[in-house]
Amino acid sequence: MQPISFPLGIAEGHYFCNRKLETKQLIRNIQQGTHTVLISPRRYGKTSLAYKAIKESKLPNARVDLFMTTNAAEIERAIIDGVNNLLSLVSNNAELLLGLIKDYIKLLKPSFEVSTHGLKIKLERTDKSTSSANNIREALQILECVLKKKSTSAVLLIDEFQEIQRVAPDQGIEGAIRHVLQETKNIAVIFSGSHRHLLKNMFNDRSKPLYRLCDEIQLDRISEEDYLPFIDKFSHKQWGKGLPKAVTEKILSYSECHAYYFNALYEKLFSHKTLPNGVTVDLIWNDLILLKKKDLLRETKEFNITHKKVLVAIAHGIDHELTGHTFLSYADLAGSSVLRALEYLEENDFIEKRGKRYYLIDPLLKAILNQLTYF
Ligand SMILES: Nc1ncnc2c1ncn2[C@@H]1O[C@H](COP(=O)(O)OP(=O)(O)O)[C@@H](O)[C@H]1O
Ligand SMILES: [Mg+2]
Repeated sequence: MQPISFPLGIAEGHYFCNRKLETKQLIRNIQQGTHTVLISPRRYGKTSLAYKAIKESKLPNARVDLFMTTNAAEIERAIIDGVNNLLSLVSNNAELLLGLIKDYIKLLKPSFEVSTHGLKIKLERTDKSTSSANNIREALQILECVLKKKSTSAVLLIDEFQEIQRVAPDQGIEGAIRHVLQETKNIAVIFSGSHRHLLKNMFNDRSKPLYRLCDEIQLDRISEEDYLPFIDKFSHKQWGKGLPKAVTEKILSYSECHAYYFNALYEKLFSHKTLPNGVTVDLIWNDLILLKKKDLLRETKEFNITHKKVLVAIAHGIDHELTGHTFLSYADLAGSSVLRALEYLEENDFIEKRGKRYYLIDPLLKAILNQLTYF
């Protein structure tokens, strides 16, 4: 029997829990050629969901990750590489492919590359190129034309798409993408990203090029009701019985159903040969705090004292009326600076607002901040 090991990366196969409605919606979008924007905070399961839906759609697909890009040229390179991968998936005859696309190539240059499957066409930028936006437009148009001629469809997943706003705003890239994608029925694009504020700005603002291009899927946390039977199956397999209530309750309460931390806890728990108890979960959580403390606090390095006070207050459960007199005088802060701090923390995905209350998104950061005080 394969040892049970919960993934800290992509969740697939029997490690993929629920998300049935979202998977169905995404597959339907892919099949209809409807583009999708997939939004949630980091490590809620966007990439895993996109992979699952793409796999089930059985269409040729490629993934572009913009996470580490720092300028327009790198974004262009990443997207054109994605197009190159799709081109080689839909046609394994490079010479024939060149015949199909040669009339459409104006700015880019096709070259041949030897791969394990024979010759492969690679589109590259040339000195004729005027801008990254124009190169991206041409690459997508070429892909569209090949797919049309071959009467087939393909899926392109562009992960961490908000990076375009961050590192190459106002360079026409979004306009170029819209130009091609609003017409095509052969390419379905999944734009995925963790920076909700930037993404909403890109897709929901009337004055922006990508306005209303996509169907939107917002991923929430997986619910306790879905997680409990899911875990029970693994527990029976490993220990021949369900986990004690104290264990599951502690896991749910520490992880707050955050998909990454849920897996991080179970990954360690299932390395135990004998049935664990509540204390085992406490020990694992405390080890995680020790292990990740430095990294998580590094993310708050740029914070000013107001950011820190507000974040620590929310971690301690002071989750509303943060601009009220009681909190302001207690924390010795001005209402306007607290408002700015809340806005900053929300935009940068540290906190989210549900109704009138604020919550810390990362449960481990919350636990770490609970050990600190700024007052
Ligand atoms: N449907 C799911 N069921 C169980 N675990 C999941 C699921 N989706 C994601 N995870 C887990 O959550 C963590 C983050 O997943 P990932 O897909 O990388 O999220 P994102 O792309 O939003 O950052 C990983 O540990 C992954 O294994
Ligand atoms: Mg991801």
